[in-house]
Amino acid sequence: MNHARRPRRILVTGVGGAPGLDLARQLLQLGCDVIAADANPLAPGLLLAQVTPRVLPVAGNPRAARALVALCDELRPDALMSTVEAELPLLYELAEELGTLGARTWLPSPAAVTAAIDKAAFHDVLTRHRLPTPLTLLPGQADAELTDDGREWVVKPRRGQGARDVHFCWTRAEADALCGLVPDPIIQAKVDGREFTADCLVDRSGHASVILRWRLLVKGGLAVVSSTFADEEVSAVVTAALGAVGAAGPCCVQGFVCDEPAPDRIVLTEMNMRLAGGFLLSQMAGADLVQQSLNGLFGEPVDHARLRYRPGLYLTKFTDTLSVGDLSTLPAHPYALRATSPSTGDSHDNHPTT
Ligand SMILES: Nc1ncnc2c1ncn2[C@@H]1O[C@H](COP(=O)(O)OP(=O)(O)O)[C@@H](O)[C@H]1O
Ligand SMILES: [Mg+2]
Repeated sequence: MNHARRPRRILVTGVGGAPGLDLARQLLQLGCDVIAADANPLAPGLLLAQVTPRVLPVAGNPRAARALVALCDELRPDALMSTVEAELPLLYELAEELGTLGARTWLPSPAAVTAAIDKAAFHDVLTRHRLPTPLTLLPGQADAELTDDGREWVVKPRRGQGARDVHFCWTRAEADALCGLVPDPIIQAKVDGREFTADCLVDRSGHASVILRWRLLVKGGLAVVSSTFADEEVSAVVTAALGAVGAAGPCCVQGFVCDEPAPDRIVLTEMNMRLAGGFLLSQMAGADLVQQSLNGLFGEPVDHARLRYRPGLYLTKFTDTLSVGDLSTLPAHPYALRATSPSTGDSHDNHPTT
């Protein structure tokens, strides 16, 4: 009798973005059966050969919850891996219901999700734990701090992603004007230094593996060229931040190694509770992020020895043509398809990068 297990069926959401697309590809390579989902019927990951493509409403749409449950009921994935942070609060609410349909999730606490989605909350958590992060102000708090003393500032959305609506300025007047334009803004001290992403996996006991890579060339918020490096102090600060926030599962942290070592050589700017857009480099450098994430997701031990990596490896991404075909052959799109935004070229605003 053949006792071979059927392949694990994994639902990956957000396959229009780099993390979801590369995750779906990696899972296919591991022999998984992949259901690829996105809010945009034109999302590239829906066109991958071998996936079961599905269009879901965008997170925040009132129909999102029922549509996800219906999809899990129909296709019975063994687990769901989300690469869209905005849907995490919904997944948290639905976790039990999805579980009864056989779909596992591995989610951090709501407080950790908040710290990842809301950069002001992230700043608060790190400051409370005395971890280095740039001075961050809400518009109403800026009175005393924001003087025209030659310091540079960043005005960006509190809950932004993909480096959208990020603006640099020097003066109070500029910051005030930008705050009127940027949705739900924060004002943050600008950091001068080398920017990095840490690809991380935090197991169920809270133990973390951290893979560091420089963001050498960033386009549209995605590190299209990056290179792995080792720095014990950076790893230690990142690990401390993961603990402070209460991160769980695959996630990523962004920060800078500053040009000026004082007051802090390392500062952290954000954390995302999902794989980063450039995680493939860490994978190529030897850190088995996807398999070990699957292990954690299915309640099996995460082998941190398999998350070691080789520093000094680089990876370059570029835009390629994925598919050409007849529009009528694309997956059905029962949910409204919005026009492509001229500024970003991106018709689905949920996609992360990093
Ligand atoms: N305080 C800062 N100092 C210097 N650069 C910054 C700062 N904040 C953001 N940036 C730049 O803007 C990009 C996007 O900002 P980030 O905080 O990562 O938001 P998100 O990726 O969620 O849009 C960063 O990758 C970095 O290049
Ligand atoms: Mg970022």
